Amino acid sequence: MSDLIYMQKALMLAKQGRFTTSPNPNVGSVIVKDNQIIGEGYHQKAGEPHAEVHALKMAGQEAKGATAYVTLEPCSHFGRTPPCADALIDAGVKRVVVAMQDPNPAVSGKGIERLRSAGITVDVGLCKQEAEALNRAFFKRMRTGLPYVQLKMAASLDGKIAMASGESKWITSTAARQDVQTFRAQASAILSTHVTVKQDNASLTVRHADLPAAIQTDYTASSIRQPVRVIIDSQNRLTGKENLFKQSGEIWIISKEERELPNSQIIVEPSESETIHLPTLLTLLGEKQINSLWVEAGAHLAGSLIEQNLVDELIIYYAPKLLGNNALDMSIIPNIQKLALAPQFKFKSINMVGDDLRVVLTPKKDNVEDS
Ligand SMILES: NC(=O)c1ccc[n+]([C@@H]2O[C@H](COP(=O)([O-])OP(=O)(O)OC[C@H]3O[C@@H](n4cnc5c(N)ncnc54)[C@H](OP(=O)(O)O)[C@@H]3O)[C@@H](O)[C@H]2O)c1
Repeated sequence: MSDLIYMQKALMLAKQGRFTTSPNPNVGSVIVKDNQIIGEGYHQKAGEPHAEVHALKMAGQEAKGATAYVTLEPCSHFGRTPPCADALIDAGVKRVVVAMQDPNPAVSGKGIERLRSAGITVDVGLCKQEAEALNRAFFKRMRTGLPYVQLKMAASLDGKIAMASGESKWITSTAARQDVQTFRAQASAILSTHVTVKQDNASLTVRHADLPAAIQTDYTASSIRQPVRVIIDSQNRLTGKENLFKQSGEIWIISKEERELPNSQIIVEPSESETIHLPTLLTLLGEKQINSLWVEAGAHLAGSLIEQNLVDELIIYYAPKLLGNNALDMSIIPNIQKLALAPQFKFKSINMVGDDLRVVLTPKKDNVEDS
């Protein structure tokens, strides 16, 4: 079999960690000798062994003289676990195929260098595009300090996200809501506002029973990590009695001052502005190791994030219904006076999800090719 097939296997393994590894990246590894896979593994959880360590353990003594396939450069530093580059050297592998160099400044070429200095042949770049897409949120934080922002909206065909009364449960179908649960489960954090929390009585949690059946089968309820719920509340409108506070999981309230709320950490956003300065908020979240931020909010926050070019991906679920002109718009962006000023996106994918359409878009300025 070819290098390509083994690397694809390693990428498939890496994806199995997508609900659990945050803030770490997803990584998979396969060890091959005489055209046989003798070891395989993936990184499951921060603080636990890396993919290569699992694969080497399975391969045992047979790893000597074998080829290791890894979807990300093996680490070269002591973090919570010892360097994987050393583990590969100690096991006596003779060749390592790496999909891409790790942009994490703590690694960034040093792992590859260490392997080469030990006389191991290292080939870099096989399936680089797929490996990049697999960890695009982690890589964005490593490169820019900011989380990867996905803005979700559930809308009618005429682009409305709620009735004038604020009623918005449920515009889209069960299948679309299961899809949203899958995205939530993969996010490091969910961003919303006091308005949406109150209006929708939203808990913003991942519920195992609401995930698609295949995911429920593959992952136990206890293995699913709750993303941190990050709620903007600059004017201290939340009382602590909302449904959000009754569900377990971390809550960070973004406020302008310290105060007490149940089960919550208050994060004081320090800018001079009266409301929350969104770029500062994203920087704070990046510093707190939030790789991917899943936004579920109303038209005001959605419009502001778009207007300020802070969205990496727009995910819109269109239900095949019309809510009419009294319903609430999808985004409030008041300063578009001419067509030339309109925020522009390009279509990335369009899929049917149940009875609805899921449209994924990226900002037009973003020319990064990812899948
Ligand atoms: N269909 C869907 O996908 C969906 C999803 C979520 C919500 N909704 C619906 O949306 C409605 C609520 O929408 P909404 O537009 O009234 O509220 P919203 O966008 O959820 O929240 C508005 C709040 O966001 C913060 N915000 C907005 N722009 C900001 C900026 N530029 N800088 C800093 N903070 C900013 C402000 O918080 P502070 O007041 O703390 O400063 C503001 O009061 C509800 O009816 C809900 O059901 C629909």
